[in-house]
Amino acid sequence: MTEKDFVPNPYTNLPSGGKVTWKAPSNIALVKYWGKKANQIPANPSISFTLDACATTTSVSYTKKEDISQLSFDLFFEGKPKEDFKPKILTFFERIEAYLPFLKAYHFKIETSNSFPHSSGIASSASGMAALALCLVEIERTINRDITDTFFKKKASFLARLGSGSACRSIEGDLIQWGEYAGISESSNLYGINYPFNVNAIFKNFHDSILLVHKGQKQVSSTVGHDLMHDHPYAERRFTQAHENLDKLKKVFESGNLDDFIKIVESEALTLHAMMMTSMPYFVLMKPDTLEIINKIWAFRETTKVPICFTLDAGANVHVLYPESVKEKAIQFIQDELVAHCENGHYICDRIGSGARKLIAHEG
Ligand code: DP6
Repeated sequence: MTEKDFVPNPYTNLPSGGKVTWKAPSNIALVKYWGKKANQIPANPSISFTLDACATTTSVSYTKKEDISQLSFDLFFEGKPKEDFKPKILTFFERIEAYLPFLKAYHFKIETSNSFPHSSGIASSASGMAALALCLVEIERTINRDITDTFFKKKASFLARLGSGSACRSIEGDLIQWGEYAGISESSNLYGINYPFNVNAIFKNFHDSILLVHKGQKQVSSTVGHDLMHDHPYAERRFTQAHENLDKLKKVFESGNLDDFIKIVESEALTLHAMMMTSMPYFVLMKPDTLEIINKIWAFRETTKVPICFTLDAGANVHVLYPESVKEKAIQFIQDELVAHCENGHYICDRIGSGARKLIAHEG
């Protein structure tokens, strides 16, 4: 599919208004997206576990307006007007207008909230943009009833990507691949797809305990970080490595070999941060406690042989990944040894999830 396939035929009649609500989860990449081209096209393919507990719920109310020359919306975050989120949403609306030509016909009231604390340092852009994209395609579905479920999800992923790249992996579960990759013929730079090959049962109920090492604002945003991959001395080799790691993961997903899984996932996390440290300007998002946690995970794994590992996103927090079979041991270890490195002892127990869902009026 190409971008053009997401441009609808002219609408015949627009409803006067309504309200839709979607809840979309966050996701954690195993092979990382870091570096992009124009129009939110990733420089390399990525793959992620869809999460379950960390999610954004968004309602969009829409009312037809007279003046169709401009975009118009109000934004409420956790019940309160949120002016500082508006520029990002406006940019998003401008990018997607060609694909949703009804946008200027309505005034929107966007009400959004996260399941995780606002100050947790967890990026909400993936779940937030996914939930908003789903609401907007839902509105389009009330205008054009012919939209199939498959197309609905593809278009939501396509639009979410234009808000935040990783958001395109937050529509469905449980393992989502995004970006052109020779090993998967249906892969696309435009949207995420369900991983199409065999996945061993061990990966079906993986856990992700997110250790909140630093809850403050990051010094360097992901968008700036992606940009620094242009003219980066190691960029091309890194992009090739992502393809190689996807090849390796294919075997791992099939066999359930956790030793190999751990090697790939931890290497991806450290490579991501190595790219940041070797950018110009260079920057470091890990904190001393991030490294303490990593060292403790390595020592624990060495002595106990419990297959627990870490990954990182673009920040100081640590995602601790482990299979269901070692859940008790992992949680005990986190409580005994790792919680001390979390800001105010905070961590969130999440697990692999099945994707976004539409909420009906009375649901929370
Ligand atoms: C390190 O999707 O947040 O989490 O497209 O600029 O919004 P934008 O970036 P974003 O980048 C995520 C980077 C990452 C890796 C990943 O999720 O694949």
